[in-house]
Amino acid sequence: MKRTGAMALALEFQNVGKSFSGGKNRPDLKAIDGVSFEVRKKEFVAIVGPSGCGKSTVLNLTAGLDRPTTGSVKVSGETVSGPNPHVGFMLQKDLLLPWRTIRRNVEFGLEARPVSAAERRDRATRELARCKISDFAGHYPFQLSGGMRQRAALARTLAIEPDIVLLDEPFSALDAQTKMLLQKSFGRTITEGGITTLLITHDLSEAVAMADRILVMSDRPGRIVEELIVDLPDRDNPIARRAHPRAGSFINHLYASLKLDERAA
Ligand SMILES: Nc1ncnc2c1ncn2[C@@H]1O[C@H](COP(=O)(O)OP(=O)(O)O)[C@@H](O)[C@H]1O
Ligand SMILES: [Mg+2]
Repeated sequence: MKRTGAMALALEFQNVGKSFSGGKNRPDLKAIDGVSFEVRKKEFVAIVGPSGCGKSTVLNLTAGLDRPTTGSVKVSGETVSGPNPHVGFMLQKDLLLPWRTIRRNVEFGLEARPVSAAERRDRATRELARCKISDFAGHYPFQLSGGMRQRAALARTLAIEPDIVLLDEPFSALDAQTKMLLQKSFGRTITEGGITTLLITHDLSEAVAMADRILVMSDRPGRIVEELIVDLPDRDNPIARRAHPRAGSFINHLYASLKLDERAA
């Protein structure tokens, strides 16, 4: 298959709707409706929105794990029509295989691909170094802290050399300080590597600290109601960014956009 490597767009949603069948005698559930947005190559876009508004649905459609009911989804200019090997997906749970070392976990995603054993080892070595986890290559997942496990999971995601990396609340199970350290580590890796990223998060300060652009979704059926360009410096250092004098105004803006003061808990 010819890859359109020079395309400036990594991801395009064009008027995408997704309904789930409600089952017998129940109406369909419309998860998202009329969702259109683009992610450019090397861009870092975050999506925020209320629980159940369809954020994970957007990622599943991008990865080709689900099909849109209406509209189209394109990755690197090609319509997604099934599980897409050019999309890297990372979840809150690291999904590392407990019986494999960290290196063998990083190699795992390449085993089903036309990649030689030597190339597999080279890529694992490179990604372990990039994610600063080389010293633990021979360890098993249970020997690592939660933050280190997520770095290993990122190394595994990057080893497939994806056109776009999808992060679905990757830090939400971690304690507050580990979370900030991991944001910093991911921010540096992603920015230095020029990796195209779509992040879903509930944490508004995380979105502001890490993204070039933030899309705000409405309640279900989810639509994109706002786009916020985060023109703060230091994208490779989320801790510095969060401390920037203008960071607070972005966060306040998102609070208002999500109408958090009007919502019940
Ligand atoms: N496979 C599915 N079958 C039926 N309903 C689903 C399925 N996946 C998601 N939904 C529903 O779609 C809506 C959006 O879900 P989701 O994308 O997971 O929301 P979010 O990630 O924003 O919390 C929810 O109401 C959820 O129950
Ligand atoms: Mg979700």
